[in-house]
Amino acid sequence: MSDPVFLCNILGKLHEQNLYRSLRPLEGAQQAHVVFEGQKVINFCSNNYLGLANDPRLLQAAHRALDEEGLGSGASRLICGNMASHQELENRLATFKQVEKALVFNSGYMANVGIISALCDREDIVLSDKLNHASIVDGILLSRAECRRYPHKDMKALEEMLSISQNYRKRLIVTDSVFSMDGDTAPLKEIVALAQKYGAMVMVDEAHGLGVLGEHGRGLAEELHVEEAIDIHMGTLSKAAGSFGAYVCGSKALIDVLINKARSFIYTTAIPPAIAAASIEAINIVEREPERRAQLKENAKYLRQGLKNLGFDTMGSTTPIIPVLLRNASIATELAKKLLARGIFVQGIRPPTVPEGTARLRVTVMATHTKEDIAQAIENFRIAKGEVCLL
Ligand SMILES: Cc1ncc(COP(=O)(O)O)c(C=O)c1O
Repeated sequence: MSDPVFLCNILGKLHEQNLYRSLRPLEGAQQAHVVFEGQKVINFCSNNYLGLANDPRLLQAAHRALDEEGLGSGASRLICGNMASHQELENRLATFKQVEKALVFNSGYMANVGIISALCDREDIVLSDKLNHASIVDGILLSRAECRRYPHKDMKALEEMLSISQNYRKRLIVTDSVFSMDGDTAPLKEIVALAQKYGAMVMVDEAHGLGVLGEHGRGLAEELHVEEAIDIHMGTLSKAAGSFGAYVCGSKALIDVLINKARSFIYTTAIPPAIAAASIEAINIVEREPERRAQLKENAKYLRQGLKNLGFDTMGSTTPIIPVLLRNASIATELAKKLLARGIFVQGIRPPTVPEGTARLRVTVMATHTKEDIAQAIENFRIAKGEVCLL
């Protein structure tokens, strides 16, 4: 960009509104205890819920694949980048999720953008929860479908929208299963019932549900016993699974359409096969080690209750994502700073990531935090709260 004044103005505005962001270095592996900006801290802002990002079994699987398949995949899946580990991962995902077929995307963002824009166009309408992830919003925009955003979890509003949208070719209801900034869950049973009543398709984003919810870790749809009623199961391998990439699971026809039409699948180099191999191991662990999920649930309950006891508003959280609502962006930044100085690493979340007036700290817990780690976090929240003027 040849106009530095233009760029300075953009940055100046962000600083003025206390919305400026910058990249800060974390050393070593992603785990409960990390070194952040040279300081030893307890990590309460990672989505590595089950502590798998540095699990030796995932690393070993990746090493094995590196030896056998090399590093880069060299091309997109449809050219010559469709390697053994990609195929194996998709077969494993399909068995795990109990669907006909699965397809791997390079990230959750790319999956959402690709799925929605491949399935919908100007003749269709997408009904989307107001707090859905940005990648869903962008997918809808890219599709050029008509979009209606219903107030968060408001089933009356959704039904109203369904009842007046009979003239569209296809109606797609799309929702996060676990809302990424609020930690509450979607009313999937009600959504599925409405979809059946009005003949709409349902797409669920289990980015924060996979590995965390459901007896076998398949997500909220498993927990609520509605898996079969959902047309499009999307999720990421980058959070509880500790790896990278994303998947969509569903019918053979759905996957065929996506292979042929999803531009974020077609026009990009396939993920490195070693990542796919590590993801297979992650899915094995998610399925076979439910004790990790149980520990995560217990840790989340302990931390959430501790924060509530201090008078913090944790919104509707029922999951390992625990927001601490502060409303004011400066206060969120200040409290995060005070906590960091005391060795507790949490991030402030400000608009536009969350709606205006709802700035918060997004605290996330892992199965690998000890009780002492969590007790330390609660005690430091107590002290830091006294140090910051909470308007
Ligand atoms: C609900 C939701 N969907 C999709 C994504 C995107 O996933 P990825 O990080 O794999 O791109 C995220 C988080 O990043 C998310 O929270």
